[in-house]
Amino acid sequence: MSTRRKKIYEGKAKILYEGPEPGTIIQHFKDDATAFNAQKKAILEGKGVVNNQISAFIMQNLNAIGVQTHFIKRVNMREQLVREVEMIPLEVVCRNVAAGSISQRLGLTEGAPLPRSIIEFYYKSDALGDPMVAEEHITAFNWASTQEIDDVMALTLRVNDYLHGMFGAVGIRLIDFKLEFGRLYEGDMVRTVIADEISPDSCRLWDVQTNEKMDKDRFRRDLGNVTEAYTEVARRLGILKAAGAGESVH
Ligand code: TMP
Repeated sequence: MSTRRKKIYEGKAKILYEGPEPGTIIQHFKDDATAFNAQKKAILEGKGVVNNQISAFIMQNLNAIGVQTHFIKRVNMREQLVREVEMIPLEVVCRNVAAGSISQRLGLTEGAPLPRSIIEFYYKSDALGDPMVAEEHITAFNWASTQEIDDVMALTLRVNDYLHGMFGAVGIRLIDFKLEFGRLYEGDMVRTVIADEISPDSCRLWDVQTNEKMDKDRFRRDLGNVTEAYTEVARRLGILKAAGAGESVH
């Protein structure tokens, strides 16, 4: 299936190949997991498959409600066809509940609801460890325009509303998540769209009843059963049907 394709880029969790038509890319989900800027690494068998399914499901639903993403379609267990975009070099984090770095930085108890949803920007640079930046840095260094920052924030809040409802309906509390954005060129038009992935690698998801973590913190904090927890997220979302019998956990 993946013979003699031109590799465009290999990241920590994904590989990008040239797509079948100009302006398209194949996004391949690996089983590699990294944390703390790749100081911690492992291979989690099956993670790529489940993240491909979860991200495809979410992106497809976002497209359907008019929140534009780079996603076109899932093509096999590990790969999806996406539109080629020019990446905006930011990680955009949206938080509803204190956890992770905001708890550490501001001394907030993990699990405490925030007074309102908070959006943060991080400059995408492995060499620098993705430092947090302000809008001032983003515009001064031309990483994105003021208009693009406005678009990014509006899209992020729409995704937050969507994900909050989607996960809430299946007993999962959306603590926070990270998005990445790209510029989609269509003739003379440039549109800001959601890119990369939305999966338990890039969200914090807690079981509503037990507060059990169902996301990458299981890997970061050595809690075990990482792929099993991701699979449970997929199962609750009802997206494992295509995978056949024997896939569900517990
Ligand atoms: P943080 O609390 O570590 O800043 O993470 C906030 C959210 O962003 C959390 O859902 C995990 C996600 N995230 C990524 O997707 N990639 C990253 O490199 C980091 C640091 C966080």
